[in-house]
Amino acid sequence: MLDGRVAIVTGGRRGLGEGVVRRFAAEGATVVVADLAPAESLLDELTPSGGEHRSVAVDVRSAEQMDGLVQDTLSWYGRLDIVVNNAGVMDSGAEVADLTDAEYDLVLDVNVRGVFNGCRAAARVFRGQPRGRIINTASYIGKKAIAGHALYSASKAAVISLTQALALELGRYGTTVNSICPGTMYTPMWVEKLPTFVGEENPDVEQWRHRAAAGIPAGRMGTGADVGAMAAWLAGDDADFVTGAALNLTGGEAVFF
Ligand SMILES: NC(=O)c1ccc[n+]([C@@H]2O[C@H](COP(=O)([O-])OP(=O)(O)OC[C@H]3O[C@@H](n4cnc5c(N)ncnc54)[C@H](O)[C@@H]3O)[C@@H](O)[C@H]2O)c1
Repeated sequence: MLDGRVAIVTGGRRGLGEGVVRRFAAEGATVVVADLAPAESLLDELTPSGGEHRSVAVDVRSAEQMDGLVQDTLSWYGRLDIVVNNAGVMDSGAEVADLTDAEYDLVLDVNVRGVFNGCRAAARVFRGQPRGRIINTASYIGKKAIAGHALYSASKAAVISLTQALALELGRYGTTVNSICPGTMYTPMWVEKLPTFVGEENPDVEQWRHRAAAGIPAGRMGTGADVGAMAAWLAGDDADFVTGAALNLTGGEAVFF
């Protein structure tokens, strides 16, 4: 359980981040949902679980905004226990020869600089307290490159590596730093990118969902609830000895270290 803990979850308004927010709130944590747009309707649903949650509009690409988010959280609640750097964007699926500088900037800025900004802001706080948790959302594609997704692969490999280095730095302060590497997950991002993935203008989402599930040993796509469950375990006391890990969460879609 996460009773009394205070958590920040970036990209928490929908998709995998929403799954983390819901699980943390259900386990008794107070959650600050940080996303480009406010998440008021999600907050309304969480409030019955008792926490005094908040929603903050933040662009993770801005160090100033991420530093401000952490300072605001400390001033609202007097503590910060968990930071989940989950906000991320997919690339367009273009091959390297066709990629634009603008796409490079977007994918690397959100997926790497955004996670870095969150890690740095959290590390400055966690260095001064006996315990902390940083959880970064990477991807199995950070371990296994896929043609057409060079920028996304590179960005997620960077997240895994950043996570490992920070785990080495923060171990002596009682802070663990881990990344979660989801497989193909059913989220708004996946639905929005489906036309590009499958080369159809109006793909039948349910049909493609079943097809995707058929390629996964567990027989289904992953969801935010799966990420929420793993994040809650990493955030809790049972995972005190787990740090520097890049944990696959793929239903068997990807089986490697
Ligand atoms: N869906 C998948 O199959 C999958 C697989 C592996 C990893 N991931 C990773 O999981 C994370 C969440 O993915 P998702 O599928 O839930 O995506 P999503 O697009 O459904 O949700 C992402 C959220 O992040 C927010 N966000 C994007 N850019 C932001 C920024 N600059 N500042 C603040 N918030 C921002 C969005 O507004 C959105 O609410 C991402 O890091 C993604 O790369 C997703």
